[in-house]
Amino acid sequence: MKKMKKYSILVSVTALLSGCYYDNAQDLYPAPAACDPGTVTYTGKVFSIIQSNCYSCHGGGSVLGNVNLDGYANLKTYADNGILVGTIEHQTGFSPMPQGGKLSDCDISVIKKWISDGTPNN
Ligand code: HEC
Repeated sequence: MKKMKKYSILVSVTALLSGCYYDNAQDLYPAPAACDPGTVTYTGKVFSIIQSNCYSCHGGGSVLGNVNLDGYANLKTYADNGILVGTIEHQTGFSPMPQGGKLSDCDISVIKKWISDGTPNN
């Protein structure tokens, strides 16, 4: 009987702790619904995300891995063949990009919206 009591206290404490854990996680990683990509074009939103996160290695003359993402036409090639989304979502079978990091959920949803809208330039 004594053992049972200890066990149920342990269960309650665990439940309490995990409750707190999930509360915090929600603060740290807001639900994707909080991000509304709105109207997405290359010049309006996509270019600045790619420029600030990828051009150091894949733009402005830098073509690491022989990958050039500089400009609309080059990026569109990787958008259309699925490799862009594979890399930024860190899907298996793709090199996770940007190397050593990850775009925010909001930036990823902006790029996915751009692709599902047919990669409009402007
Ligand atoms: C710090 C340098 C660096 C940054 C920043 C970087 N990459 Fe890369 N990327 C590389 C290197 C090196 C390779 C080739 C080796 C490899 O595939 O891991 C590569 C390969 C790739 C490939 C080909 C991989 C495949 O699976 O075929 C794509 C596509 C790519 N990067 C996209 C991106 C995108 C999109 C960003 C920005 C969100 C980005 N990279 C940021 C260094 C970088």
